[in-house]
Amino acid sequence: MVSLTELTGRALADISASADIARLEEARVHWLGKKGLITEQLKSLGAMPAEQRKEAGARINEAKEAVQAAIDARRTVLEAEEISRKLAQGRIDITLDGRGEVPGGLHPVTRARLRIERLFREVGFEVAEGPEIEDDFHNFSALNVPANHPARAMHDTFYLEHEVEGERALLRTHTSPVQIRALRAARDNLPLAVIAPGRVYRMDSDATHTPMFHQVEGLLVDEGVSFANLKAILHGFMEAFFERDLSMRLRPSYFPFTEPSAEVDITCVACGGSGCRLCKHTGWIEVLGCGMVHPNVLTACEVDSERYTAYAFGMGIDRLAMLRYGVTDLRLFFENDLRFLRQFRGGWS
Ligand code: FA5
Ligand code: MG
Repeated sequence: MVSLTELTGRALADISASADIARLEEARVHWLGKKGLITEQLKSLGAMPAEQRKEAGARINEAKEAVQAAIDARRTVLEAEEISRKLAQGRIDITLDGRGEVPGGLHPVTRARLRIERLFREVGFEVAEGPEIEDDFHNFSALNVPANHPARAMHDTFYLEHEVEGERALLRTHTSPVQIRALRAARDNLPLAVIAPGRVYRMDSDATHTPMFHQVEGLLVDEGVSFANLKAILHGFMEAFFERDLSMRLRPSYFPFTEPSAEVDITCVACGGSGCRLCKHTGWIEVLGCGMVHPNVLTACEVDSERYTAYAFGMGIDRLAMLRYGVTDLRLFFENDLRFLRQFRGGWS
């Protein structure tokens, strides 16, 4: 039988003769692996008289440690050799011109969102947020759209398979559920003025509709808030956003969560109102929905609807970005074509 000393010597010789990392790994398995020759020595302990066992065990462990240390040292050497080999192979020509750096820029939809946030902050609104994965309660029921109500068909909803607190989960179809969250959070701290920008989702797709788009919700609650206040803030906002005098018209409309409700159109900026494909030859383009918050919504959020009134609006950020930057197809915003996006580089608003 080969002595432990002899075995250790052979292992150390094998390790220092290993010319690369792969070979070193083979050597490690050969000597120290589960069935390695040194590891196997431990098995012989069982056959020994108990008084010898302890000392023999300690010697085997010492041998193992020595071999492991040799492997680690060899690996460090081999790795360093590999790095110098690679460096020698690849030459760096420091006289070449640099490739330059292309400055990034904000996406036009982000620019429009920041611009909207800034304009509303200037007149005292705070910015709120809500989840994109909503539940039936916040997206519909609390907004006065009970189950099986025909108004649900106004939104082609993406439903999810799971539930959130016993309510069916869905991708929010508008930013109006943030009204509910904001109202409930502030019911003891009114008045309240918030806007809530974010992504929303509907099964919808053409030149002016995409399945994911952005809205910004606005909500103002106080005593004595009127429809005239709503109209004034919207007109002021549109003129500030587009930096020009602008025609705006309100069409009577229906939303379950507002009464009365209106849809707001502005002059089509692509054709100046004469009619084109973008405005479907009407000269107008719809930018938002709005109205006075329905008392049922205030009540569902435990706000006293006798004392307080509120207005709310929800506008399409992408539509506003399209109009401000003269883009005629909404889908361009989401194709990530750099030739398109680079045209917005460098601007902040
Ligand atoms: C709503 O979503 C209501 N929640 C708005 C509202 C809020 C009314 C508060 C009253 C009070 P509507 O479905 O009309 O309404 O969408 C509002 C705006 O989002 C539209 O005017 C339009 O600018 C934009 N929009 C709607 N669908 C799309 C779409 N598929 N792609 C891009 N923009 C869209
Ligand atoms: Mg609409």
